[in-house]
Amino acid sequence: MPTLTDPWKLGGVSIPNRVVLAPLAGIGNWFVRLQAKRYGAGLVVSEMVSSFAVHYRNERTCRELLRIHPDEHPVSMQLFGADPDVMASAAERVAAAGADVLDLNMGCPVPKVCKTGAGAALLEDEDRALEVARAAARGSGLPVTVKLRSGLHAGDLRGLRLARALMERADVAGVSIHPRHASQGHRGVPNYDLVRSLVDELPVPVLVSGGLHTAEQVRCAFAATGAAAVLLARGSLGNPWLFAQLVEGTDTRPSAEQVLAELDWVIERAVAHLGAERATRYLRKFYPWYLERLLEERISSAEAPRLHARRTEGKLLAALQTASTFHSARALIREAVALDGATEPALLDA
Ligand SMILES: Cc1cc2nc3c(=O)[nH]c(=O)nc-3n(C[C@H](O)[C@H](O)[C@H](O)COP(=O)(O)O)c2cc1C
Repeated sequence: MPTLTDPWKLGGVSIPNRVVLAPLAGIGNWFVRLQAKRYGAGLVVSEMVSSFAVHYRNERTCRELLRIHPDEHPVSMQLFGADPDVMASAAERVAAAGADVLDLNMGCPVPKVCKTGAGAALLEDEDRALEVARAAARGSGLPVTVKLRSGLHAGDLRGLRLARALMERADVAGVSIHPRHASQGHRGVPNYDLVRSLVDELPVPVLVSGGLHTAEQVRCAFAATGAAAVLLARGSLGNPWLFAQLVEGTDTRPSAEQVLAELDWVIERAVAHLGAERATRYLRKFYPWYLERLLEERISSAEAPRLHARRTEGKLLAALQTASTFHSARALIREAVALDGATEPALLDA
């Protein structure tokens, strides 16, 4: 039985361990991936990128979403789309951008994606799904993987059937499976037995996704499914320490200073990537994740500050969503931490 820290190969690409950053739309850009890498992720997968936008050279998509940092490798870029010719063209661009692996989204249940025939809608159209996968390999020359749901609704196992077909008839290098059906969205308990059956059947690496929010959940799912690797999704939001916990075996919670320093690292890169105005809006989704870590830190340190922090959390979250600059949002968080009377954060340049 391999362990999470064992190296493995995906279509000839060497990957140093089995802890992978999952694709996260609107989140998994180059610096979020780089952050996961800094904390030990063996492989990082990009947020899903529209094959149409890449094919038609949408300026912002190509400049921002196809950007790869030199220290991220190995990196997998995820595309979505249902037109094989468009996919081949987009795949070529993704390879030129420097991706090591190309991942195809065949699991997204969002109507905006499915109504174009892409994402989970491809579970209903096996022939098209196979054409799209072949086109992606032809266009990119890269190992192609596919991320799937188990099915569209309860009891539907079309995702598993498609996984087999993709391996046998489109030569995919690996399959990521999120064993919740598409109509569940991200709710409900993932059915790891389904992953186990796919692992037993397919000769290519099977990666497991779903419900991997704590180190214990990750270790249990890895053992129960026999998957080649685990995909950390919501569990990794504002929590790169989860990678270190799994890869290095560290089990200490980050201190308030470490959480604040990490948030500053993210803010700096968001501003450099998007400019101050767009970064101010973009970062709003990040603050609650880091705040959660800071409150966790409180919980481990003392009871009274925790109660204080919990009381002010709602107000603080609202204020962070309306802060007019990232400077003011950052100051609000630091002020809240200092108010709790815990360790004074080491203030970095504002
Ligand atoms: C905000 C968000 C964005 C996501 N974006 C993508 C995506 O772009 N591509 C994809 O294949 N899956 C996407 N997913 C699904 C995740 O990769 C993962 O399969 C899912 O969250 C289940 O894992 P979890 O329960 O550990 O969070 C997204 C999930 C969330 C919560």
